[in-house]
Amino acid sequence: MREVREVGALRAWLGAERAAGRRVGFVPTMGALHEGHLSLIRRAAAETEVCVISVFVNPLQFEDPADLAAYPRRLAADVEAAAEAGAAGVFHPPVEELYPSGAEQPALWVEVGALGQDLEGAWRPGHFRGVATVVTKLLGAVGPCRAYFGEKDYQQLLVVRQLVRELLLPVEVVGCPTVREPDGLARSSRNERLDPAARAAGLALYRALRAGEAAIEAGATSPEAVEAPWAEVAASEPAVRVDYLVVRDPATLAPLRTLPAGGEVRLLGALRVGGVRLIDNLAATVP
Ligand code: PAJ
Repeated sequence: MREVREVGALRAWLGAERAAGRRVGFVPTMGALHEGHLSLIRRAAAETEVCVISVFVNPLQFEDPADLAAYPRRLAADVEAAAEAGAAGVFHPPVEELYPSGAEQPALWVEVGALGQDLEGAWRPGHFRGVATVVTKLLGAVGPCRAYFGEKDYQQLLVVRQLVRELLLPVEVVGCPTVREPDGLARSSRNERLDPAARAAGLALYRALRAGEAAIEAGATSPEAVEAPWAEVAASEPAVRVDYLVVRDPATLAPLRTLPAGGEVRLLGALRVGGVRLIDNLAATVP
């Protein structure tokens, strides 16, 4: 298991691997690894010869300094877990290595268009340009054949696909299914900040998405019919503040006027509970 902190050393290592004909699979993370991350690492390790992960808590994508400060950090445990899941190396650069002119005032941003302004982008202004900027840098540093992202952060996955397409980056983006707790709560590093009461209330997000899915299966034809059960679910948990619950086009996240018969839609939601913000989403097929 290699631990690398500098872009130069990373390039020297992975350049040699590529020259020997080995494909590099890359899993970018912010650490505090859980089963969701590990599923991506196992898949990258199974599909490529050299699996590399990054552990970097990217200051550019946190619009709330308190959220950045509270983000869990445990590098030693992450390195061990990544190795066990099949990673050959962990890239964990200090902030100056990725932002030589400082993270407060980076010399360059990768701006995201309309896709980055909606939903998460509307609730977290600047979030996706922070993600796009760091992902561009990480892909440039690692030079992978394939990069693995979770559907848990569905809008992020679409932003990264768009980034790779628009900037002509030579990498295949692989989207991986959301890993959940047995009761359905999506695995997230933020879950560990939920006390038992908040965790129980937070499950309303998954319940709401499943209720929307059930409405579609039962023949809903309009977004309003899908959204109808959501008011009840939200009202059933007074501790919860719903930021959004929507049904959207799965490729563009554009709002829908009617549900496309026989087509796919995406249900997406975000809520706040006990000082923690949770997001989740589900795919649904319209009968
Ligand atoms: P982070 O939240 O650490 O997530 C790293 C990767 O793990 C992302 O692709 C995310 O979608 C995936 N992931 C998280 N929870 C998951 C789950 N329950 N099931 C499946 N995949 C899951 O996302 C980021 O970091 C950052 O924005 C990053 C892309 C690293 C850029 O800083």
